[in-house]
Amino acid sequence: MKLFERVTIGETGMLSTNRIALAPMTNMQSNSDGTLGDNEYNWLVRRAEGGFGMVITCATYVSEDGKGWDGELGAWSNNHMDGLTRLAEGIHDTDSLAILQIFHGGARAPEKITGVMPWSSSAHIIPGNPIKRVREGTIFDIERVISDFTNAARRAYNAGFDGVEIHGAHGYLFHQFLSADTNKRKDEWGGESFENRCQLIRTVMQNLRRELPSTFIIGVRLSPEDRGTFKGIDFDESIQTAEMLADEGADYIHISAWEALKKPDKYKDGDKTIVKYFREALPEEVTILVAGDIWSKEDAEKCISDGADMVALARCAIGNPDWPKLLKKNDKYTAVKPPYSHDQLKAVAVSDVFVEYLKKWENFIK
Ligand SMILES: Cc1cc2nc3c(=O)[nH]c(=O)nc-3n(C[C@H](O)[C@H](O)[C@H](O)COP(=O)(O)O)c2cc1C
Repeated sequence: MKLFERVTIGETGMLSTNRIALAPMTNMQSNSDGTLGDNEYNWLVRRAEGGFGMVITCATYVSEDGKGWDGELGAWSNNHMDGLTRLAEGIHDTDSLAILQIFHGGARAPEKITGVMPWSSSAHIIPGNPIKRVREGTIFDIERVISDFTNAARRAYNAGFDGVEIHGAHGYLFHQFLSADTNKRKDEWGGESFENRCQLIRTVMQNLRRELPSTFIIGVRLSPEDRGTFKGIDFDESIQTAEMLADEGADYIHISAWEALKKPDKYKDGDKTIVKYFREALPEEVTILVAGDIWSKEDAEKCISDGADMVALARCAIGNPDWPKLLKKNDKYTAVKPPYSHDQLKAVAVSDVFVEYLKKWENFIK
């Protein structure tokens, strides 16, 4: 089964033992100062033990003013190094690759958590979001956040992680800069020019590639098109963003489509899925990951035959931490679907605080 073949990530020479990744999932199980919580450790290491070839952490904030929620893991200070090192070692005790997802919330980093007014590309308000005051970032903010991303990636490297994933999706800082709706700047960091809107993520990618060894994996997660209240992302521009990031040295592009085999809204009458467009546009050596509603062997294999090199599982991996191991043993294996009871989740290293958070996902908790 192709799913259980090894795959090299980009041009790093690093190998994943299979084509199954744990998708990044916020779980609120770390400490209030951003240091690693035991429950966050147990949750991730349990999935590594279950056979996921690559374990991607939750979104981890790189600057104090970029924190998105309570219990978020941090990588903005050397005080986080002990926990990050323990986590990388725990994941490495299995055969998994350890990837730290690095993040800044931008307009979605609440003042009541950070103590300061959130900043973004422009002073925009997200419809339906409780945050009502956002300022336009200064050049100083932009330069600071670029160096915060570099420092966080360096910490990940020094802690023993195999790589980082830049969180460019889901309406957070990079997405806010990429979107024509939320980036109305008049300078070289945005506005009507697509090149300018890409400038922040491109500069971060250039700095990471320059500062870190070529064996260190640098991936990027992108939302390829509009979804819900996050608008201003054109599908063709997303392909160009991915191509540009690949040119700058991205080892993998992680497409967050919510349905892995979706066709783009812009070309919904065509016959190609989003994954196929990305595969045709990107050089062969750039690894493609895709996430979204993957529960079965058939779902995963369809993604791979459509051009993905790896699949990333989120919700399925919550209740089914041994999905890769069990499927490898028995190709008739089927995952247990939600809703799950509290006790069912407790038994698979999901703590009370994470269960509480999961209640906001429809029909997930009994
Ligand atoms: C509880 C939960 C937390 C999530 N947190 C993150 C996150 O921190 N970073 C991120 O890029 N995506 C996050 N996502 C999105 C997932 O990585 C994934 O793309 C999405 O859930 C679709 O995959 P699925 O159908 O396998 O759940 C989260 C999803 C869930 C269910």
